[in-house]
Amino acid sequence: MKMSHRLTSLADMVEQPYTHIWDCCCDHGFLGAELLKRNSAKHIHFVDIVAPLMQQLTQKLQLFFPLDAQQTYNWSVHCIDVATLPIDQFANANKPSEKDAPNSDCIDEADIKQLIIIAGVGGDLMKVMVEAIINSNPNIAVDFLLCPVHHQFKLRQMLAQYAFIYLDEKLIKDNQRYYEILKVRYQPKAALMGLATATVSPVGEKIWQAQTTQQAEVVQGYINKTLNHYRQRSKQAIMDNEVELAIMAYSAVAKNLSESD
Ligand SMILES: C[S@@+](CC[C@H](N)C(=O)[O-])C[C@H]1O[C@@H](n2cnc3c(N)ncnc32)[C@H](O)[C@@H]1O
Repeated sequence: MKMSHRLTSLADMVEQPYTHIWDCCCDHGFLGAELLKRNSAKHIHFVDIVAPLMQQLTQKLQLFFPLDAQQTYNWSVHCIDVATLPIDQFANANKPSEKDAPNSDCIDEADIKQLIIIAGVGGDLMKVMVEAIINSNPNIAVDFLLCPVHHQFKLRQMLAQYAFIYLDEKLIKDNQRYYEILKVRYQPKAALMGLATATVSPVGEKIWQAQTTQQAEVVQGYINKTLNHYRQRSKQAIMDNEVELAIMAYSAVAKNLSESD
């Protein structure tokens, strides 16, 4: 199976050694299978709501990544709604150790053991999923790697509201479509105090900083497309608060980009 540029970029952004990675909305499980190959976590969870898909995926995983006695591969398939993700079953791994952080409820980076990846669904649905997960598990620190299709602004606004901590972001173009990939951390303490050390920008920051001519073209194409989208929406008399805010914020990005040319 050939991995798309988008899925490869997602796999490349995993980095931290996680104990559990959840490939949510996994469909055929290509991303999770790549993470199994890369040995990215002790356990990879494949999650999707469509039962026949998950049955087929289980058979394929049994063939290519057999669960042997040596535990070369560790995986599970969950046919569930992402909103009900059982991350609490592995939550002990998130508690700060007495040795590393005596008398502190601050969670060290090394203690974040779970990564939830959601890719390939709309940003509005992704927003509902992420909110449901953290509202059901308000005391569990967990990282998210998110790659929405559209509605990035709405999703980012929600992440900022819940004081998610910004970790990294990328803008890529794959098969003539643009994708933002966003890595963030839910930290119960930051959420409680409404403070994040590094906040999530509603339009992104690093994604607009191109290091190559090729990436500068991607950035320019993306800002044009995004602004056009919101201007069209405002013309269609669907001018709501989100559209108004988005036009203002993306116009500022476009102005900065033209000034730095
Ligand atoms: C287009 S595929 C994305 C596949 C892969 N993640 C990617 O980025 O290429 C979207 C998948 O999301 C699944 N899905 C949609 N809503 C879901 C939900 N609430 N819970 C679990 N899976 C869901 C669908 O069944 C479908 O397989």
